[in-house]
Amino acid sequence: MIEAFAGLTSHFAAVERHMTAALVSDELRVNHLIDALGQFHGKMLRPALVMLVAECVGGVTDTHHRLGAALEMIHTATLIHDDLIDDADTRRSQPTAHVRFGNTTSVLLGDYFYTHAFSLVARLRDPESMQRLTEITNVMCRGELHQQCAAKDVSLSEAEYDRIIYAKTAALTELAGELGAVHGSSAQRAAAAGYGRACGMAFQIVDDCLDFTGDPQKVGKTLSTDIERGRLTLPIIRLLERAGAQRAEYERLLVSVASPEDVTRVRDLVTGSGAVQSAVDTARAHVAKAKAHLQTFAPGLARERLETLADFIVARDF
Ligand code: IPE
Ligand code: IPE
Ligand code: MG
Ligand code: MG
Repeated sequence: MIEAFAGLTSHFAAVERHMTAALVSDELRVNHLIDALGQFHGKMLRPALVMLVAECVGGVTDTHHRLGAALEMIHTATLIHDDLIDDADTRRSQPTAHVRFGNTTSVLLGDYFYTHAFSLVARLRDPESMQRLTEITNVMCRGELHQQCAAKDVSLSEAEYDRIIYAKTAALTELAGELGAVHGSSAQRAAAAGYGRACGMAFQIVDDCLDFTGDPQKVGKTLSTDIERGRLTLPIIRLLERAGAQRAEYERLLVSVASPEDVTRVRDLVTGSGAVQSAVDTARAHVAKAKAHLQTFAPGLARERLETLADFIVARDF
């Protein structure tokens, strides 16, 4: 259990109930699929962000449970599609959806999770939350497309990498912060959004490091997919910056990774060069920014939990 999430158990249970209710249909065959997926949970980071921010801004209501459920469903939709794109076979320590049900079913399942998240929020009759959800989902889809178009481009700048990870990951955590403060003042909403955004940037950078350094048993998902897909993540960008006369050779290797030996060679270069440590330092800087946003909230247990969560994001090994 993540330390900052202690005390969220009953809120997580409420989020689960909303997800189950939103996804159930009158068709047994469809329900069977949804049940099979629903047994496996991730870290629940996005609902937790909603709840922990809400605790700083007057308390958690059922609206927060519903919003948390919708964000977790959007996140799950992206993972179902992402695992198919990455040809990853393990997620949340289980075979991925496309391995279990096939590619076609998993494309459709991802769509099902997206559309049911939208209708869950539409039922809240809060046009602003609905508008923000659709805007952020647009940004996420753009981010995944952007990442795809930028693969194997060894000239990718760190600024462009930052835009990609903002879009694919930090936009959703930004929204989680913002919606946690849905009943707060505009200053509180802005601070919570800033906190969520900075946490999301750090989270994705650490995820990109774990692709090289993670223990597959602990992380519970297929690793090295970024290397195989030729993605220029921050550890790779930092490796190339330090490569000196070897840069051209490294670039050739990165765009032509084909065998398990190539993957191992890239991993060894990255872990042996200090590139991971350098990327983790950048993640730490995002965490410091996230914490600075928390000054808007009154000191106390709720704010401390958000600080603990920010620290967990860089310290994590899963
Ligand atoms: C994985 O997210 C995808 C990224 C944005 C890096 P999580 O690590 O939050 O996945 P789960 O929900 O815990 O499985
Ligand atoms: C995050 O990127 C994916 C989404 C936001 C969909 P990754 O491709 O790094 O996620 P993992 O590592 O497979 O969980
Ligand atoms: Mg992936
Ligand atoms: Mg990853």
